Amino acid sequence: MENLRVDNKMMVMVMVIIGLLALYPLMVMADPIRHKVGGNKGWSPNVNYTEWSSHEHFLVGDWLWFIFDKHYYNILEVNKTSYENCIDNGFIKNLTRGGRDVVELKEARTYYYISSGGYCFHQMKVAVNVEEHQAPITASPPPIMNNSGSILPYVYTCTLIIVANVLFMILVSIGAL
Ligand SMILES: *[C@@H]1O[C@H](CO)[C@@H](O)[C@H](O)[C@H]1NC(C)=O
Ligand SMILES: *[C@@H]1O[C@H](CO)[C@@H](O)[C@H](O)[C@H]1NC(C)=O
Ligand SMILES: *[C@@H]1O[C@H](CO)[C@@H](O)[C@H](O)[C@H]1NC(C)=O
Ligand SMILES: *[C@@H]1O[C@H](CO)[C@@H](O)[C@H](O)[C@H]1NC(C)=O
Repeated sequence: MENLRVDNKMMVMVMVIIGLLALYPLMVMADPIRHKVGGNKGWSPNVNYTEWSSHEHFLVGDWLWFIFDKHYYNILEVNKTSYENCIDNGFIKNLTRGGRDVVELKEARTYYYISSGGYCFHQMKVAVNVEEHQAPITASPPPIMNNSGSILPYVYTCTLIIVANVLFMILVSIGAL
């Protein structure tokens, strides 16, 4: 252990590397995406939103962007049964604002939205299946998460694993182990 003499310069370098690596999980975490519902057709009747959503990949923290004429259409979050049968009574949430409205997808689950006024029967209904972010590190199993979709515990775990690995590598490379 007596050759464990590290000069200041190397210590600073090591600190910088650890700092950068600690940020790594945040950097690889994809930025939230804003999904324009229906693409260029927006939120309107006679668009196949099943087809549209099948080409999108929704992750926790992403946003839906509904563009529509608020004089005719609206955005109601409903449950699966109401989505399938176009029932607008007893909706979960009215997300209608000005017609260029964003909705955050906060949890990993399937969200269901319809427009009332009979437009749901003309295909104005969309189901989006929201998934958790995938772990960038596969060496360890991801922690079980049951706290309504927060990624923070996961980020901390990743950071700890990386820092531990780096410390280990440094100790090996300077001959301390
Ligand atoms: C919409 O697209 C889906 C998937 O491509 C298809 O299964 C479904 O039949 C289409 N719906 C209508 C009403 O065309
Ligand atoms: C879905 O919502 C409708 C309307 O509020 C309600 O009658 C029905 O019981 C709900 N279904 C489930 C499975 O929660
Ligand atoms: C939903 O909210 C909008 C805007 O606040 C309002 O104009 C509309 O009447 C509401 N629709 C329903 C079905 O509650
Ligand atoms: C997650 O939480 C819900 C409600 O708090 C509970 O019913 C469920 O068993 C929990 N699941 C896990 C895997 O802990």
